[in-house]
Formats: sequence, C-alpha cells, structure tokens
Amino acid sequence: MTTPHIGANKGDIADTILLPGDPLRAQWIAENYFENPVCYNTVRNMLGFTGTYRGKRISVQGTGMGVPSLSIYVTELFQEFDVQTAIRVGTCGGLAKTNLRDVIIAMAASSDSGINRRATGGLDYAPVANYDLLEAAVKSARERGVTHHVGGIATMDLFYDDSNAIEVLEGLGVLGLEMETSGLYRLAAKFDRRALTVCTVSDLIRPDGVTETTAQERETGFRNMIEIALDAAQA
Ligand code: HPA
Repeated sequence: MTTPHIGANKGDIADTILLPGDPLRAQWIAENYFENPVCYNTVRNMLGFTGTYRGKRISVQGTGMGVPSLSIYVTELFQEFDVQTAIRVGTCGGLAKTNLRDVIIAMAASSDSGINRRATGGLDYAPVANYDLLEAAVKSARERGVTHHVGGIATMDLFYDDSNAIEVLEGLGVLGLEMETSGLYRLAAKFDRRALTVCTVSDLIRPDGVTETTAQERETGFRNMIEIALDAAQA
C-alpha cells in the first residue's frame, strides 16, 4: 500500500519517526545514526529511511518546508502508516533570548498560518507538544550539557517577512521562528499521536539584521539537536 506521496508498504515505516524539513538531512541522519538504514521513499525525492537506533526501530522522513508540505506527509504517516510518535528536527531563526546553535524545545507553536483556523472552523487553537517527549528531551539536553531553551516558538508562513510580527512575537517571549510546528502539533492532536519539535538556531533575527551560522556551526548544532531527539524517541 502506498500513498500519493509516500511509496512504501505499511510495515516499512517504524512507529517512531524523525521529521527534518530537508530530505538530504533525512539521509544524513539515517547514514550517521541508524544501523542498517533502508530507503523506503523516493517519491518527489522526499527521502524516507528506516533503521534501528540503540536496538529500537526508527524512521526519518523529509517533510519539505511549511505547514502545507509537512501536513501532507504527516497526515499520510499518521493515517496510513500508523506512526505514533513524530519528532520534528529542524532549524529556526532565533529571537532575542537565543544565540546561534542553541537548541529550542518547543512547548507550543503560535502561528500566522491560516491552516489551523481553517481546520478548526476559526478557533484560536493552541497547538502544544506531547509532555512525555518534551520532558525526555529536556532531560537529555540537561544531561548532555547542551544550551537549550524550553518555551513557545512561532510557525510563520513567510520566511522573508517585512511586517512587525517579529517584534510582537518577541514581546510575547517567543523563542524562535520556523515554518512547520503548528501544523505538526495540530495533526498529532487530531490523530491522538505524540509530537515534539526540537530546533537548532541557525540564524539570529535581531533589529540590526540576520546573522547566519557557518556550515561547521550548523553541523555542531545539528548533531546536538538530533541526539536530543533520538534520546526523546526512546521515551
Ligand atoms: N524564519 C523562518 N523559518 C526559519 C528561519 C527564519 O528566520 N530560520 C530557519 N528557519
């Protein structure tokens, strides 16, 4: 059985999955962390792999960028492949409380995307993380000595955004900006599954402009985030 976007059979995907936006990061995670990774999806080059990590079967699937793309993959994973636990691993733009390479563990995701409102008939639904995964990720970050923040992020539709939304969100203590989590958390709630987002700060959004990380810095931050997500996946 395949779905329109995932060319796999039901048993090919583990009940626990990591979700990077970039399919090549999915491949990198599988090759660097999984034992015996097998690629189960090449449709649209949105690569997905299944292997084992510390003896537990686990998958990793690229989602693309933004709530619309993520929602396609996550709906199919929950509805057709019975995925129970989904952990997004991605980059985010850091707001005032953060620095480059910090890890953000997202309790909740505000958004300017219209998708959750549309899906809830206009409600201001509050998309939240699964607490057990959140607690396991925080424990892992503490034990690994990784600089981390736990709090709200914002899932934005525009990467290039000239509006004053950033100041408003910063004024409300939002830690970072990305483009997927509000959709992931709503879908997890809808299908009664567990979800968490762990992000690494890849660029800083400051009044004087945006500072970006080097490729080397991104890899270090990226490894911390993946290892925290893999620890949480054992919970
Ligand atoms: N905005 C939205 N998403 C992002 C950003 C950003 O600045 N950086 C990485 N993902």
